[in-house]
Amino acid sequence: MTAVTAETGTNKHGSPAADDKDASAHAAAFDAAVAADERIEPRDWMPEAYRASLVRQIAQHAHSEIIGMQPESNWITRAPSLRRKAILMAKVQDEAGHGLYLYSAAETLGVSRDELLDKLHSGRQKYSSIFNYPTLTWADVGAIGWLVDGAAITNQVPLCRCSYGPYARAMVRVCKEESFHQRQGYELLLALSQGTPEQHAMAQDAVDRWWWPSLMMFGPPDDESSHSAQSMAWKIKRHSNDELRQRFVDICVPQAEALGLTLPDPDLRWNEERGHHDFGAIDWTEFWDVLKGNGPCNEQRLTQRRRAHEEGAWVRDAAAAYAAKQHTNGEATA
Ligand SMILES: [Fe+2]
Ligand SMILES: [Fe+2]
Repeated sequence: MTAVTAETGTNKHGSPAADDKDASAHAAAFDAAVAADERIEPRDWMPEAYRASLVRQIAQHAHSEIIGMQPESNWITRAPSLRRKAILMAKVQDEAGHGLYLYSAAETLGVSRDELLDKLHSGRQKYSSIFNYPTLTWADVGAIGWLVDGAAITNQVPLCRCSYGPYARAMVRVCKEESFHQRQGYELLLALSQGTPEQHAMAQDAVDRWWWPSLMMFGPPDDESSHSAQSMAWKIKRHSNDELRQRFVDICVPQAEALGLTLPDPDLRWNEERGHHDFGAIDWTEFWDVLKGNGPCNEQRLTQRRRAHEEGAWVRDAAAAYAAKQHTNGEATA
């Protein structure tokens, strides 16, 4: 979208009537761009609520990427082989990269990374609740890759068509990397499932613990989701929480069969009429409880994040000093 920019939008006449006229012209241009599936770019005029909604969503997404490094990095030193260790290190590093793309995308909306991190550290912005569960065994690394990264892909592929350009473009690369994450998890679980009876049991136990929290990753049911309808009207979201959750269940059932593992839901069965799998009721009390901060690892994740931020202060200082020096040198030689 390039029709009306923030700059050309300033009212040169100064009269309230001209203000109103400008505002409605901007709103009309914005609505038309969204309706025509055009991208909204950082310098385009956008409703304040659209900007705020994107900041909230992109920040929460960025926070999830960097907090998500913790449960898995917990296993880097104990990976069972050099190959597994190399794969896991690469995956955790990818997640740091995803955080960086997303903080950069959020910055195009006029917020600073410091401000967002501050909100994360003080609990004023959330990250995905899934990362408040512990990784108890090596098989959890597989279950996270298969189910958590799998759910993330299901959520994020439609975001590649999100109406906000920088977010949509960041998602293209993120999704390519996530699909490798999903495969490494699947392959890890397959190796365990086909291993000794103890290894098979460990894989099954991990799937039993991660299945339901993965379904919660799609957010509350459509009729209870406060942001959904507006996000869909703005084409930030393309599908509802329940649609995406159903899609994920349908994808996972045959994959679980191929893995030789069972999904822990006695009500899970194919519904011929709907052309989808029916599944059991989700325990939303657990979801809201973990979201409120009462999950098994909420405290630990935030404490670790704050510590990592403090310990990284010298790196930020050094980078800023270096950039300032380059700037001065540049001016001296100009
Ligand atoms: Fe990621
Ligand atoms: Fe990932």
